[in-house]
Amino acid sequence: MQTTTTVEGLRGVLDAARVRGESVGFVPTMGYLHAGHESLMDRARSDCGVVVASIFVNPLQFGVGEDLDAYPRDLDGDSALATRAGVDVLFVPSVEEMYPGSVATTVSVAGVSAPMEGASRPTHFDGVATVVAKLFNIVGPCRAYFGEKDFQQLAVIRRMVADLSVPVTVVGCPTLREDDGLARSSRNVYLSPEERAAAPVLHRALCLGASLIRAGETDADTVRAAMAAEIATQALGTLDYVEVADATTLERQRECGPDSRLLGAVRFGRARLIDNVGVEPLDNVVRPPERD
Ligand code: PAF
Repeated sequence: MQTTTTVEGLRGVLDAARVRGESVGFVPTMGYLHAGHESLMDRARSDCGVVVASIFVNPLQFGVGEDLDAYPRDLDGDSALATRAGVDVLFVPSVEEMYPGSVATTVSVAGVSAPMEGASRPTHFDGVATVVAKLFNIVGPCRAYFGEKDFQQLAVIRRMVADLSVPVTVVGCPTLREDDGLARSSRNVYLSPEERAAAPVLHRALCLGASLIRAGETDADTVRAAMAAEIATQALGTLDYVEVADATTLERQRECGPDSRLLGAVRFGRARLIDNVGVEPLDNVVRPPERD
């Protein structure tokens, strides 16, 4: 695996790969890689000729008082995981490389960015859309792999790509979970043992909501109330939101059904955890593959 820290270096490697006729798979990350990222890299590896992953903790998507400085980093561990997953090129730019001057141009995706994470973190999705647009411009035409754990982020990126005719195919991949249902996340490292024990309540609540809809419940408020009540059973968790939304537009629903997505955010101490499930049971539990 090659590692490059410059835009020019990455473009050189990818231009040469395209001349050889190879398709490009891209996995953008903020590092502190885990099995969830590895599953995206595995998927890119099986689909594409050359696989590039980026590690960049993007200051633009962190609000004031969020965990930018404390965001966990481990470049050695990340390089080992990326090598194991068959990544060909690791792109690790500095902040100066990505943002050489002040940023006058940003990308803002109206509508789908507004509710839930957008309401709780008002500048977050502009930061995500801007850096992903830059990364797509640097990498060029490719298939880009994103986890469904950040379901609203995936919807924002899909909308940006469609609206701006970006020559990238966005591939959404299922969430990887621990045995007790907790979604894999770099931020799980912030959980104390007691918080870690309590944290699966978020997935439990979302699955409860999905099972109510499967059983025929169509009133979204009833489903939201049941999910909130489940989360309230854990004193260590502070509910930010639980939502029943249209799976494509993410608009809040009054009537729910098979087209619904259930999403939630709960704070446990320093960790703010997000998760979501679809109504179909197969969506809801994906575990990492066994490795030798
Ligand atoms: O999901 C992430 O890790 C980040 O939001 C992303 C897409 C790499 C943009 O910084």
